[in-house]
Amino acid sequence: MKKVQFTETVLRDANQSLMATRLPYADYEPILDAMDKAGYYSVECWGGATFDSCLRYLGEDPWERLRNIRKNMPNTRLQMLLRGQNLLGYKHYHDDVVEKFVELSIKNGIDVIRIFDALNDFRNIKTALEATKKYATPKTVASGCISYTQSPVHTVEKYVEMCKELKTMGFDTICLKDMAGTMSPYEAESLIKGIKDGVGDMPLILHTHCTTGMAYMTILKAIESGVDVIDTATSCFSNGTSQPATESLFYALQQYGYPMDLKEDVINKVNDFFKPVKQKYIDNGTLSPKSMGTDAQALVYKVPGGMLSNMIANLKDMGAMDKFDEALAEIPSVRKDLGYPPLVTPLSQMVGNQAVVNVLMGERYKQISNEIKNYFKGEYGIAPGPVSQELQDKILGAGGQPTDCRIEDAKRTGEEFQKAKEALGDLARSEEDLMSYICFPDQAMKFLKDRKAKEENVATYTIEEA
Ligand code: CO
Repeated sequence: MKKVQFTETVLRDANQSLMATRLPYADYEPILDAMDKAGYYSVECWGGATFDSCLRYLGEDPWERLRNIRKNMPNTRLQMLLRGQNLLGYKHYHDDVVEKFVELSIKNGIDVIRIFDALNDFRNIKTALEATKKYATPKTVASGCISYTQSPVHTVEKYVEMCKELKTMGFDTICLKDMAGTMSPYEAESLIKGIKDGVGDMPLILHTHCTTGMAYMTILKAIESGVDVIDTATSCFSNGTSQPATESLFYALQQYGYPMDLKEDVINKVNDFFKPVKQKYIDNGTLSPKSMGTDAQALVYKVPGGMLSNMIANLKDMGAMDKFDEALAEIPSVRKDLGYPPLVTPLSQMVGNQAVVNVLMGERYKQISNEIKNYFKGEYGIAPGPVSQELQDKILGAGGQPTDCRIEDAKRTGEEFQKAKEALGDLARSEEDLMSYICFPDQAMKFLKDRKAKEENVATYTIEEA
């Protein structure tokens, strides 16, 4: 039987899905040494929302966090999630910025870079891939990621084509990313068999969430169908909106006779360590019981859980909760008009908001958000399927066509670096500081000022002491 490998997500996705990425580095530093010996394929520990959260909420330097993890886990592959041309932010950055970000990520300790685009427009992940190859060490893995969704244009054949494209582009592995946790066991089976037939021996990874309650069944079917790596979280940080439990899957798969590298005593120790950490965040309200439960609603409406709660909050604000059912029913229509984008950030918010506006105005697209207009202009990339011609004409004028965002992204002007240097002055001591500022200017500025103030306080204190 083929080996099954595990990516442990507690430090990144479990942390992000269950407690809005508020886990400080100091909370888990003591267990890193043990985690280094657990036999994981990789530990996902960086990227996604961790970077923003470090600067915005935790007063941590994200780069320093990464270096510290590296120091304490010298033998494990460290993994990050990168949103292609968006890096870890919400807009397209120029190619020189993307390249430098990847260079610094590898330099500071990342081994596996999982790169995705919300629309699966692979032009948006090309620069990040090329940079990964350019700065690769012998341990570096470029993982091409597909945002999974269901729609009439997202067929098995389409996904197999995407995987072939990722292989041709030069990725080392392929990851199926089911952010909403809506992939069923049946879909996993046909998809993974199709992909394995299509791209041969390329390692295939399944990333899913327990949100709708299907993840364990889906993963088991995926393994039977030939998937190589699964994403799991240590059990006390598993389930709900997070990944399925590492120890439980290890236990079940062992009985089937799948060879695995995990060390049972170590993965149990990891869980024992995180139990009181979890309790602390339940007690202070950071970890809400809501995110720990199962909600199958996403299967009915094909709308991710986070998007629904967002919509409910919006409608309540406007005193229009009586329009909820109507707005919910409008979502699939808006998504269809947009060519069936996967409902992930930022598309989930854009589609949800437009559905609400359409219902509240009593006329579809009487008012169109700027984000939706930009989407039709081509700023987010190419839509997965054909968009509504009527809506396109309304936004771009009759016969108007979207423009190629790549031309703008590809500019290598050095302009961002120059601006960051000017804005930060002596606050910036490294390329990493500049990069933090380019990605999150306000948060980085505040963090770097605080850092300087802290050091000056310490200096004054030391002098007085002397
Ligand atoms: Co995820």
